[in-house]
Amino acid sequence: MFGTLDVAPADPILGLEEAFKRDPNPAKINLSVGVYRDAYGNTPVFRAVKRAEELILRNEISKTYLAIDGMPEYAAAVQALLFGPEHPLVTHQLAVTAHSPGGTGGLRVAADFLSKIRPNTTVWVSQPTWPNHPNVFRAAGLAVQTYPYFDAAGNRLDFDAMMAALANLPAGDAVVLHGSCHNPTGIDPTPEQWAHISSLLAERNLLPLVDFAYQGLANGIDVDATSIRTLWQPGREMIVVSSYSKNFGLYNERTGALTLVAATSSEAQAALSHIKTVVRTNYSNPPAHGAKIVTTILRTPELRSDWAAELGEMRARIRQMREKFVANLAALGVQRDFSFLLNQNGMFSFTGLSKAQVLRLRQEYAIYLVDSGRVNVAGMTEANLPLLCQAVAQML
Ligand code: LMR
Repeated sequence: MFGTLDVAPADPILGLEEAFKRDPNPAKINLSVGVYRDAYGNTPVFRAVKRAEELILRNEISKTYLAIDGMPEYAAAVQALLFGPEHPLVTHQLAVTAHSPGGTGGLRVAADFLSKIRPNTTVWVSQPTWPNHPNVFRAAGLAVQTYPYFDAAGNRLDFDAMMAALANLPAGDAVVLHGSCHNPTGIDPTPEQWAHISSLLAERNLLPLVDFAYQGLANGIDVDATSIRTLWQPGREMIVVSSYSKNFGLYNERTGALTLVAATSSEAQAALSHIKTVVRTNYSNPPAHGAKIVTTILRTPELRSDWAAELGEMRARIRQMREKFVANLAALGVQRDFSFLLNQNGMFSFTGLSKAQVLRLRQEYAIYLVDSGRVNVAGMTEANLPLLCQAVAQML
């Protein structure tokens, strides 16, 4: 049975991680997978996470199963983080939240849920998007199509083209939006543009399916939620999949959530019952540790403010690396204007480097970017910047 199998292609992002680990070059630089690194190139555990873990270790008395949809305290904490504790959607119980194994797990549950209730849904993703998006939705049997997003010549959001495309989609389809820090371009809609997107989706009866993996890494924890808070209007339905890999540094704890918003509380509960059947036939019920950490931090004022402060430090460092990268390239006499990187959010940017240039960077300098030219700015450090900038300068 297995003897006839060809080797499957490596994952475009996590496959590079494996290749990077195998690379013997001591000067190698990893700018591929979206993982935050500090000035020393480490991915530290948040201070608040360590302290929450101490509390959990001390107080935990059982490892019995969680409910299929996870802990109610986690669901409440997630909803308050996404929308704010006093948001009408929260106080009127229009949202239900299922704890998922990471953001990817939440996306897959959303995909299986849509496939179950509306198998003919087409899922529309931005061009470009995170390369795993189409795979996850197709794996659930859904059709996937793209809408325009990025204007490569202007290094900006092609808002007119995006809106023109969305205006022509069939009612009932799902539109994947990135809540903040668009992956891979780093280019987000402005608050005014979010308002237009919100009205258009409502008018066309399209379901917003928001992938929100970077809350707090663009401009602030609440500011970054402008997207989802603007997309919601009374009576609207939407799905938000959030991840706590990056903003709590809980990558390998696989901590995420699927939050579904319905027009009424009873409709939300009915939807949750279907989400639970999807979960039960997939991973049965979620892992507890990461959710306990997030819940403990968000419910303990002292830990919460330390977490917010550390997240702010990360955000500032990423901005600083953007500035240094742009300034260093200019100082090396690179003609191409890279200042567009300064207007982008979060960990990622499109460098505009071609696939051939990306491959040369990998082969000749052991510098790892995703083939699309996406760079993880959060992987740059003061130590690796000189070599990186020289290599890019040479490439251009
Ligand atoms: C990325 O885009 O690099 C991250 O979201 C990690 C992943 O799973 O691909």
